[in-house]
Amino acid sequence: MQNFEQFLLDNLPTSKSIHPTYEDALQNMLIAGGKRFRPALLLGVVKAYNPLMQDSARYAALAIELLHTYSLIHDDLPAMDNSPLRRGKPTLHVSFDEVTAILVGDALNTYSFEVLANAPFSDTTRVKLIRELAHNGGLNGMVLGQAIDCYFENQPLKVEDIKQLHINKTAKLIAASLKMGAIIVAEEKIAEKLYDFGIKLGLLFQIQDDILDVTQSSKEAGKLTNNDEDKNSFVTILGLQEATLQADEMAQELTQEILSLDESLQRELSSLLTKYINRHKHNKGSF
Ligand code: IPE
Ligand code: IPE
Ligand code: MG
Ligand code: MG
Ligand code: MG
Repeated sequence: MQNFEQFLLDNLPTSKSIHPTYEDALQNMLIAGGKRFRPALLLGVVKAYNPLMQDSARYAALAIELLHTYSLIHDDLPAMDNSPLRRGKPTLHVSFDEVTAILVGDALNTYSFEVLANAPFSDTTRVKLIRELAHNGGLNGMVLGQAIDCYFENQPLKVEDIKQLHINKTAKLIAASLKMGAIIVAEEKIAEKLYDFGIKLGLLFQIQDDILDVTQSSKEAGKLTNNDEDKNSFVTILGLQEATLQADEMAQELTQEILSLDESLQRELSSLLTKYINRHKHNKGSF
C-alpha cells in the first residue's frame, strides 16, 4: 500500500482560486490516512490475475477511496452523525465549516468519476467501472444505506432490516471494490462470485465497526466512539455479547470461503482478508 499511498498524494484533487482554504479542505481528509481497505481489495484482485495492470488499476482504487472519503465527510456532518473526529483529525465542519464539508464531499464524489473517466482503460472497461461505482455508491447503495440509517434513528429495526441497512451503507462499496478489480482484469466469471463474497465481508466489516464503536476509545479508533446508542446496529439491538458471537460465526464462514477462491487470489488476498475478518477480536487502533 506504500505504493498506493504515494499515488494518492500524487493525484490529490487540486483547485487554484481566490478561495483561501478550499484546496486545503479538499485534500485534508484524504491525506489524514485511513486504512485504505477498499483500494487494497481492488489492487489485490488485479495483482492476482494480471500484475502488469497494477499501475492503471491504482486510478480505480483512488476513485473508490475518493467516493468513500466523501461518504465519511458527509457522515460526520452535524445533520448526520455530528462527529468532531475522523482519521485522528478534527472533521472538516470543525476545522473549516459546514458549508466547506458539504462542498468538499460533493467535489470528491464527482472527482471520483472524473478519475475513472480519465483512467487508462478501454472505453468499455471505463464505462463498466463507472457503472459499478455509481450503482454501489449511489442511490440504491451507500446513499440508501445512509438514508435508512439516519431515518430510523431511535426506531429499533428487525435484525434482517439492519442487515439490509449495513449491506447498503457499507457492504456494497466493499463488494464493488473486489468486483471492479475483476472487471479491470476482465475476469468477469469471478466478478459475481467476488461481489457476493464482498457483500458478506462488508456486512461483517460494518458489524465489527459497530462492535469497535463500543469497545474502542475515540483515540484508538481515530473517530468519535460510543456515539451510536440511537442507531440501529447489531450491538444496540442484540447486545455486545451476541453481536460478537454472530461476528465470530460470520468470520468463521468467511475464513472457510477464502479456501474456495482461486489460488492466485488466495495468494494475494488471504492475509489482508484474514486480518480484517478477525479485526473485532483485537482492540488496537486501526485507522
Ligand atoms: C468507516 O470506514 C465507515 C464504515 C463503512 C464503517 P473505514 O473503517 O474503512 O474508514 P477509514 O477509511 O479507515 O477511515
Ligand atoms: C457509516 O457508518 C458508513 C458510511 C457509509 C460512511 P458509521 O457512521 O458507523 O461510520 P463511522 O463509524 O462514523 O466511521
Ligand atoms: Mg453513520
Ligand atoms: Mg458515523
Ligand atoms: Mg461506526
